[in-house]
Amino acid sequence: MKVTMIGTGYVGLVTGTCFAESGNDVTCLDVDQKKVDLLNSGGVPIYEPGLTELVKRNAAAGRLEFSTNYAEAIEGAKCVFICVGTPQDDSGAADLKYVQSAAESMAPYLEPGAVVVCKSTVPVGTNRKVRGWIEAKTDTKFYSASNPEFLKEGAAIDDFTKPDRVVVGVDDEDAADVVHELYKPFLRTEKPFIAMGIESAEMVKYAANCMLATKISFINEMANICEQVNADINDVRKGIGHDARIGFSFLFPGVGYGGSCFPKDVRALASLAAEHGIEPRILRTVDETNNQQKNVLFNKINTYFDGDLNGKTIAIWGLSFKPRTDDIREAPSLVLINSLLEAGAVVQVSDPVAIENVQAELGDRVTYCEHHYDACANADALAIVTEWNEFRTPDFDYIKLKMKAPVIFDGRNLYDCKKMARRGFYYAGIGLSPAGASQETVGAAGE
Ligand code: UDX
Repeated sequence: MKVTMIGTGYVGLVTGTCFAESGNDVTCLDVDQKKVDLLNSGGVPIYEPGLTELVKRNAAAGRLEFSTNYAEAIEGAKCVFICVGTPQDDSGAADLKYVQSAAESMAPYLEPGAVVVCKSTVPVGTNRKVRGWIEAKTDTKFYSASNPEFLKEGAAIDDFTKPDRVVVGVDDEDAADVVHELYKPFLRTEKPFIAMGIESAEMVKYAANCMLATKISFINEMANICEQVNADINDVRKGIGHDARIGFSFLFPGVGYGGSCFPKDVRALASLAAEHGIEPRILRTVDETNNQQKNVLFNKINTYFDGDLNGKTIAIWGLSFKPRTDDIREAPSLVLINSLLEAGAVVQVSDPVAIENVQAELGDRVTYCEHHYDACANADALAIVTEWNEFRTPDFDYIKLKMKAPVIFDGRNLYDCKKMARRGFYYAGIGLSPAGASQETVGAAGE
C-alpha cells in the first residue's frame, strides 16, 4: 500500500519506518528541508534505540522515502497519516496550526477514496475540523480516521510492532478496513483492533495518558505521606500492586512525570473539559501535584543543608525526562538545576545522551561531565534524577572517594537503603526514611 506520513517527528518517523518494514511503500513528508536532507543522507534526527538501522534498511530497500514535496508525497497514497506536532498554547490548549497546515497542503493532491488518518494527539472534535479544512480546498471524496498512538519514547519500535491494541475512530467501515490492513502484521493473537466513533478514539488517547499521569501523581502523594509516617513506599507499592485491580505498572514514585505527552495532555484535556463547562478537578490536581513533585529533590537537598546551598557543589545524574531518550521536554532535571543555581550552588551534570540538549538550554551555567563519576568530583551531594541503567550498580567506594561527602538524594529509589547506610552513605530516596548518618554525624564520628 502507498502510505504517506506528514511530519517526521517521533511518531511519524517511527510509524512510517515500521509500515515500510512490513512491506508498504512509505513516503515521510516534512516541511523542514534540513530534516529531510539529514534523513535522505542516512541520519536520524532523534535518539531512539533501533530506529537508525531500521530507517537505513528500509530506505536502501526503496520502501522508505523522505520528501518536502506535497504533490509527490500525497499523489497515489491510499492512507495519509497526519503526525505533526500539537504544542500547547498559552492557555494549555493544543495548538492546531500545524495540523491545519498539513490538511490544507495535502488537499489538492488527495486520491479519491484516500483515508486521512489523524495520529497527532488532538482535542476531541479536531478530526471534524480537519475534514472541513480539506473540503474547503478540494471536491475529492476521502475518508477520515483517528488513530491514537501509544508509543513510549525509548521503546517506540517495540511498542509499535507489539501493540496491546490498535484503536481507530471512523465514520465508515471501509476506512477502518484500510487501517486494519496496515496494522494486521503487528497484531498478535488476542491483541484487538478496536474500531469506534471518531470522537471516542480522540478521547481514548487523552483518557489513557491522563489515567497514567494520575497513577503517577497518586503514588507520588502516597510516597510523600509515607515519609512523614515512617512507612516505606516500596513495601506499600508491592502491597497494593499485588491486588489485581490495581497492578504494578506506573506506580513508581519519583521526581514527577515529564516528557512531551503527559504534562501537555493533562493540561489539554483539562482545558477541553473547562471549555465544555466541566470543572476538571482531578486533572488540575494531577498537574499541580506533579509540578510540586518536581521540587521534591531540591527541597530535600535544601533542608539537608539547612537552607544554605551557596557555594555547595551538587552532582546530578540523569537529565532526560526518562532513560533511553535524549528528550528533555518538561524534564524534572531542569527544574532541579534551576532551583540549585538560584540558590547559589555549583552544578555538575552527566547524562548518557541528553547533554547536548541541556547545553542548548542552559549553556555554561552548569559543568557537563562525560562520565557520571566525574560529576561527583568534590561534590557535597549527588542527586539522581533519571534511572539510566548505567547508574544502577555504580562503584560506591569510588564515588565516595571522589565526593567531598558521601551524600545521595535519589529521585528514583535505585538502591537499597540499608546497604547504602552500611556503605557509609547518607541516602535519601522518595517515600523512604533517609538512611545512614547525616553530614554532622559523619563529621562527628570522624573526629
Ligand atoms: C507516554 C505514554 O506512556 C505513551 O503511551 C504515550 O503515547 C506518550 O506518552 P512517554 O512520555 O514516552 O510515553 O513516557 P513514559 O514511559 O510513559 O513515562 C512518562 C513519565 O512518567 C516519565 O517522566 C517517567 O519518569 C514517569 N513515570 C512513569 C513515573 O514517574 N513513574 C512511573 O511509574 C512511570
